[in-house]
Amino acid sequence: MTNRFQRRKPIPGPKEHWLKGSLQAFTSDPLRFLSNQAETFGPVSSFRFGPFQEVYFVNDPDLIKEILVTKQKAFIKSRDIQMLKAVVGEGLLTNEKESHLKQRRLIQPAFKKTHIHQYAQDMIETTNAFIKGWKGEEERNIAADMMNIALGIITKTMFGMEMGQGADVIEQPMEAVMKLGIKRMRSLSPLPLWVPTQANRQLKKAVKELDDVLFSIISKRRLEDNQSEDLLGMLMKARDEENGAVMSDQQLRDELMTIFLAGHETTANLLAWTLYLLSEHPSADERLYAEIKEVTNGEALLPEHYTKLTYTQNVISESMRLYPPAYVIGRQVEEDIEIGPYLFNKGAMVLISQYVMHRNASFYHEPNIFKPERFDHNFLKTLPPFAYFPFGGGPRVCIGNHFAMMEATLALAAIAQNYKFTLTSSQQKVTPQPLITLRPKGGLMMKVEKRK
Ligand code: HEM
Repeated sequence: MTNRFQRRKPIPGPKEHWLKGSLQAFTSDPLRFLSNQAETFGPVSSFRFGPFQEVYFVNDPDLIKEILVTKQKAFIKSRDIQMLKAVVGEGLLTNEKESHLKQRRLIQPAFKKTHIHQYAQDMIETTNAFIKGWKGEEERNIAADMMNIALGIITKTMFGMEMGQGADVIEQPMEAVMKLGIKRMRSLSPLPLWVPTQANRQLKKAVKELDDVLFSIISKRRLEDNQSEDLLGMLMKARDEENGAVMSDQQLRDELMTIFLAGHETTANLLAWTLYLLSEHPSADERLYAEIKEVTNGEALLPEHYTKLTYTQNVISESMRLYPPAYVIGRQVEEDIEIGPYLFNKGAMVLISQYVMHRNASFYHEPNIFKPERFDHNFLKTLPPFAYFPFGGGPRVCIGNHFAMMEATLALAAIAQNYKFTLTSSQQKVTPQPLITLRPKGGLMMKVEKRK
């Protein structure tokens, strides 16, 4: 009989600098570094960030399932996500253990498929209002446009506010906080917030300004005997199953910030990548336009068209396969744990990459080619779980996954119903930039033409 210690396999890894480990190679080009690791070392490899931080990179669907689902209790979110607490407090993204579970149960109903359908009209109207100002033919930074559309949609669905009608009261301070928070998350050794560095002072000031706005919206709603069905209204109505308690103002504020942070840049990048891919694949663009025309009968796009736009949904899925906005998931090992035949040591960091897994030739024929039709005929059911996981998985799966699919599909349909895109001569090359999310480096300059 093999005992469990004999079963453990050593984890292979690259030759490294004694002090820096692989930190420099990783930070200079994370996608290439991780792709090389998978190609050279297979399902699991190990390296260091600096002299002490051990990192495991896992690139196997079964092992990913162990980390995100079956053995998820042995892990917490990685340090960079924990750094975000300075901005989002104890919202869903950063919360852990029992407290996370409790919050997740409270918030889940607001994101149920049946509930989010009422946001479809807002998603369509916000997109239409934004593109209405576009000329018949012009060059635009589409990445910036998609960010504005996604920002408009999350503000409208969360607070019921429209762009140009009070939404900037929130959007401006929110943007300032997000920028500074993300800078903190990316810095390698941020000092505790009470240390009065310039960065900390700026962040605290921006958070205070935003808090003033958010707390005043929350208290106004409390006075109004809130009947609203927007996300804030849903969060305010949510009651703990056991004791009937509602969320405190602080918890509401943390969840609002979290949803805002997690919910707009991801979808914005997804839309930008999709329009880029369509511009490079005219036959896919034609099929998409034909579907939109057929489903809408050449009339205005409506919420009930969503489920019928199956090819449009496949375009979105294939776009997320090639350019997953969340391209990597990080965890920290809380206790020594066996993952497959390997032992993961307490304190180590674990990385999993959608970008690398989604381009694995064992699961995808011609993995680097954009082929939305591969998602026809229930293709996903033929894959092992976690060969495709743009929204993560397990108890921490993206709570906004249905919301994001509906938003991206309807926004894309509203845009593509009216406009066609080609790269401008100044934008010959489009490369992914892996920051917090995967975005087109330096924006995305495209020629926008009204469909005839
Ligand atoms: C294409 C768009 C999106 C992508 C690719 C995406 C991806 C993800 C991924 C991979 C996670 C899990 C992270 C982990 O396990 O460490 C996550 C979590 C989360 N996402 Fe999304 N997301 C998207 C849109 C949204 C939207 C629209 C919302 C809200 C309106 C949202 C809210 C959240 C929240 C609150 C969490 C934390 C859930 C928890 O830990 O319980 N996301 N997202």
